[in-house]
Parts: sequence; C-alpha cells; structure tokens
Amino acid sequence: MARGQRRPGGDGRAAPDLFQVRISHLSGHGRAGRGAEQQLAQRRGHRPPGAHRRRVRDHDQSLDARPFPGRPRLDHRHHAWCGQLGDQRFAGATPRWCAARLGPHLPHPRGLADVQRPSRRRSRPGRLPARPPDHLPQLPPSQASPRAVDGHAVPHLRDHHPGRGGARGRSLDRWLPAPAHPGRGAIVAAADQVARPGRHAGLPCRPDPRLQPVRGPLRRGAVPVAGPRAALLRADHGALGPHSRAPLVTTVAVVGLGKIGLPLAAQFASKGLDVIGCDLQPEAVASINSGRSHIREEAGLEEAVRTAVAHGRLKATTDTTAAVAKADVVVVIVPLMVEPDRKIDYRSVDAATLAVARGLRRGTLVVYETTLPVGTTRQRLKPAIERESGLTAGADFHLAFSPERLYAGRIFADLRKYPKIVGGIDPASTDKAVDFYRKVLDAEVWPVENAETAEFAKLAETTYRDVNIALANQLALYAAGRHVNVGQAFKAANSQPFSHIHRPSIGVGGHCIPVYPHFLLDDAADGELSLVRDGRQTNDGMARVGIEALDRSLGGLRSRRVLVLGASYREDVKELAFSTAFAIVDLLHRAGANVMVHDPLFTPAELFALEAEVVDLDSEAALSADAVVVQAWHSSFHELDWRRFKSLRAVLDGRGSVDPQSVREAGAAYVAVDAPREEASA
Ligand SMILES: NC(=O)c1ccc[n+]([C@@H]2O[C@H](COP(=O)([O-])OP(=O)(O)OC[C@H]3O[C@@H](n4cnc5c(N)ncnc54)[C@H](O)[C@@H]3O)[C@@H](O)[C@H]2O)c1
Repeated sequence: MARGQRRPGGDGRAAPDLFQVRISHLSGHGRAGRGAEQQLAQRRGHRPPGAHRRRVRDHDQSLDARPFPGRPRLDHRHHAWCGQLGDQRFAGATPRWCAARLGPHLPHPRGLADVQRPSRRRSRPGRLPARPPDHLPQLPPSQASPRAVDGHAVPHLRDHHPGRGGARGRSLDRWLPAPAHPGRGAIVAAADQVARPGRHAGLPCRPDPRLQPVRGPLRRGAVPVAGPRAALLRADHGALGPHSRAPLVTTVAVVGLGKIGLPLAAQFASKGLDVIGCDLQPEAVASINSGRSHIREEAGLEEAVRTAVAHGRLKATTDTTAAVAKADVVVVIVPLMVEPDRKIDYRSVDAATLAVARGLRRGTLVVYETTLPVGTTRQRLKPAIERESGLTAGADFHLAFSPERLYAGRIFADLRKYPKIVGGIDPASTDKAVDFYRKVLDAEVWPVENAETAEFAKLAETTYRDVNIALANQLALYAAGRHVNVGQAFKAANSQPFSHIHRPSIGVGGHCIPVYPHFLLDDAADGELSLVRDGRQTNDGMARVGIEALDRSLGGLRSRRVLVLGASYREDVKELAFSTAFAIVDLLHRAGANVMVHDPLFTPAELFALEAEVVDLDSEAALSADAVVVQAWHSSFHELDWRRFKSLRAVLDGRGSVDPQSVREAGAAYVAVDAPREEASA
C-alpha cells in the first residue's frame, strides 16, 4: 500500500494507521530485529508472532521498504529499552516522517528507528495513539529545516490537521506530547519525554543515557530550536542514514585558528554550540584559553572571544585528534599556499586532514573551508580520511566543501551578509552541511550541486578579480600616456551598471587573489585559461612598472633613501603573505637604493624577512627619505603630512590612495602606474 493511502477500517471509514514505536539504539530489518519484535509483540499480547511478522512486512511495503544505506543492524542488548514515547504514548512518526515534515532537527528520539503496525483498528483512549495522518501537508525541503521548526512547521501542521477521534485528535499535540512550558513548543516537550523514564506498557524502559532533556534557561550543550527558551537534546551520533539517530550538533571542532578560523569559532560559539578550536601554535591556544584573541585587527573579535570563553563555549587545544573525537562537526580552515615555483603546497591541509581522520567518529560532518583546487575534497582528502580513519565517506561520515569568502577586517559583518556556498561529496553531505550552516550563520546558505562546484565557485570569484585588476592595469598603462585621467575615466565607465573595472595598482597580494588562479592553472591543459595566465603575469609585473616610473621621475634610484610605507599586502590587515612589499624591496635593492620599511602593524622582528631597515615614522632616517613608496595605505597614514619629509622628491602611490595635490604641495612629484609622467625636482 502506498504511503498516504487510507485503509478501510472496520466501520467502513478511513481508519488511521496505528503504529507502535520502538525506541532502540540500533535497529534493523534483519532477522534479529524481527525476532525481537516478536518478543515485543508477545509481551504486549497483541498478536501471535507470525501475524506480527506479517505486519512488519506490511509496514515495510507500505511505508518504505527500501534498505537504508549504512543502516545498522539491531542490537539485542538495547532492543528491550523500548516502548512508546513517554507516558504521553506518542507514537507513529518515523524519522523519515519527521524529517519530511518538520525538518531534520525534530528531537526525534535517536533510535526511534522502527515502526510496527500492530493493529489496523482505530486508536482508543488508553491504547496506542494513531500516527499523524498521511494526508498532512508535506513541507518542501526548504521549510523542513530548523527554521521551519521554529517558525512554520508546527503551527502549519496544527492548522491543517483536520482532526479525528474527538477533541484529542484535533491538533498535532495528539502526537507530540504537550509542551511543558507555553511557548517552548511541542517538539521540545517531546524531546523531554523521550529522555524521561516512563511507563511503557510493562516493558523495561530506561532513558537513553545520551539524551539529556533541557528545561528552563538554556544550558551548555543545548541547542535552541523553538523559541528563546526552547532547547534540544545533547546526544551522541550513530551511523548515517534516515534511521540513524537525529543529527544534533552540539560540538564543533575548528581546525586552524588564524584570521578566519578564530572569528568562525567565535561565531559558532555565539550560536550556542560548544567549540573546540585547534591550532599548532601553543601561544595562540594559550591566548584564546585565557579569553584573549591573538588576532588583533579584526573588528569585534576580541569581544567575541572573551565572551565565548567566559561562557565556556570556546576552548582551544593543540590536540586536533582529541578535539575531533568529541565533535559532531569539524571545520578545517588551515592555509593552502603556492610555492615560489607555483607548485601547490598541501602540507598544512594534509597534516590537518590526518589529525582529523585519527579522531573521526561515525556520524561526524567534516567541512573544508580552506580554498582548494577543483576536485581536492573528493580525490585527495576523502581517500586520506578514509585510509586513516577506516571509515567510509557517505556511509560513515559526511564530507563537504564550503569556501570561506570573508574579507579580513570585516569578518563578522560579512558573515551576516555573504551567502554561504555549500557542496558535499553526495547529496546527504550537502544537506547535512547546509543544516549546520543554517544553524550557525545569519546569512543565506546556498547549496550547490557538489563539492567540485563549491570549490570552483571560490576559484572563479577570486580569479575574476585577478583578471579584472589585470585589465585595469593594462588599460591604465595604455591610457596614462594619452593624456587620460584614468581614475576619472574608470569612474565614468563604471557608472554604466555592467562595468566593474577595478583599480590599477603596483601589485596584488595576500592569500587569495594572486594564489587561486594558480589552483586553476595547475591542471589546465595547454590553451585553457590563457586569459587567466596572462592576467597573472600582468599583475606580477606591476611592481616593476611602478619602480621604473619612480626611477625615471628621480633620474635614477642609486643611493636614494626610499621609504616603503606599509608592508602588509593591503591596508589595515596584518598579513605579509604574497605582499607586493617583497617585490618592491627587492627591485629597489637591485636599483641600488637604500631601503627602509615602516608598518605600524608589525614589530621589527616580524618584518625581518623583508631584508630592509625597519624604521619608525618619526625617526630621523624615515624623515630624511628622498622618496616614499605607498604599498599599503593603512588608516593610520591617512592624516600623514608629506611636508614632514624634509628631502622628499617623489611619492609612488602604489594603491591610488594618496591625494596628488597634497604630495605636490610638499614639493614632490606624484608618481603612479596610471598617472602621466611627473619629473621630481632636483
Ligand atoms: N585571510 C583571508 O583573508 C581569507 C579570506 C577568505 C578565505 N581564506 C581562507 O582561509 C584560509 C586560512 O586563512 P587565514 O587567514 O585564517 O590563515 P592564517 O595563516 O591566519 O591562519 C591559519 C592557522 O592555521 C594554523 N594551522 C596550520 N596548519 C595547521 C594544522 N595542521 N593543524 C592545525 N592548525 C594549523 C596556523 O597555525 C594558523 O594559526 C586560507 O588559506 C584561505 O583558504 C582566507
């Protein structure tokens, strides 16, 4: 009988489907399961064993007889811990039913795995209650989410249930035990019922020790689902599949507590989850555990870390494997770089992956957020995890990729704004990751077809920017010698909504834009992505273009004192990765200049790798500079008075940020890659 069809009852009317719910840790349709079901039926005195087997078969055929991949076999030890759902005698909703109508976060008892059809008669008070009718409206998957549980699903079902069997049957409350507190919602109350020892038709019944009802104010480990006072259950994970225990997430391990990982950890903690941050650096771990952020430049991060640690929601450790062993979800956000020869350096990601795999439990969701070349999640990381853990992706654990697209310096604002792209190695992994991100982010969560699509989306987005900057640079070089005010021209062009020309500059730096095109080029065939390759070369060559312009303006750089302002790859971020400062310092050295560097975000020791004299802005050496190169225009430079530099002859504005007039007023030449040539005074 197809699901949703009505069976004729003895009175000729449509009879409700009656079910008995069995709560077990592990259950299955195998022979062992049926034997146990017979015992159950005999003890209840409902039917002889043979008839019961037939009913089980009926049920299999009528509901959904497909085998569930990864579904565990019945565990005899736990089978007797059964009965109906608390003393409310709630019964009848299968995990599938709950997931379809109420979303995956219904606190369906884990192991509410099997449903039997003990009787075709109508429910009577005091006997088994009826299962909610099949003709209740089905929620689309988009509503069958935690949000749907919060805002729509339950009232929706209540509103639409037509009722039968008298007043008790007129609402969903008939099947969900009554809320313990008004406003908390029946779902939460149902969860409480599951965990409470109850009367179970004479069967030995104990609560599942992993299920902890949460009443009253939220406590640690509880996840709100149905209003401010509602709370769910903390529970362990079982195997995957529709009959596995409900996917409740309470603990998240974040691997990599850098500029992106630490704000993410704080964000997850702010949503009520227990977060264990993992990093190789003991100093960072110690700092976080004392409530201090080791990342100073991120707006709101200090406060977020302090609050999360104070509330006991965030801890840090250097032991990734131990943290993963306690986690329901693992988010990996360690760096992936390219070496100077453009070879991709997987060492951090591979090391993190091994550490994760060693602690991985069945049922865990692993999400990589580190930007990866297309196919890496499936072809490199999945086999590595499987080899090390002995578990199978898709059957034993979920695996997804979700690129992090945040902009350092405004991460918490971006977390609320940017859609979160999610693609799993299979649809179940995508769903699971989407559920997780809907719980922890305020932004839209945007599932895509698979992990490869999500990987490519991030690479496409960053490569677009690299190529766009290259186009801006090429256009600027062409126009600057033709009496064009390039800045004004681009502004005018961009007033047309389809034009988004970026700003020309002396180079592109950072983890992302100069790096990710190489993730594409690495496996591109000859002739593929020629535009991307060309754009990369153009941008890499801009530092030389800028220094040559400065050289021309000064009439040579030999023995000139040149101050590089800002070592970071861009303004207001303490990050040297792929900073153009390295190329600038190198080119100046080669031209014979005496090079000084100033960046208030770094200590002199941190700038050691630049191989330049690190100076204070007020120092005699800095103020005696012949020329200044603006490499990163930090906010602290905005009020800089160029007249303080007594010998200043030229300023190379590498970022198009400086007011040319203020430079000229100081008696110096304004030099930029998009500006007409300006000679410095002797
Ligand atoms: N920085 C950005 O602006 C930005 C923006 C978007 C996306 N991302 C993505 O985030 C990734 C990380 O960027 P970030 O800026 O946070 O890097 P980061 O260098 O600031 O931090 C990385 C952290 O990972 C830790 N780490 C490295 N290997 C580890 C391991 N095996 N186990 C545990 N911890 C390990 C490091 O100690 C460091 O603290 C990037 O590679 C990129 O894919 C970065």
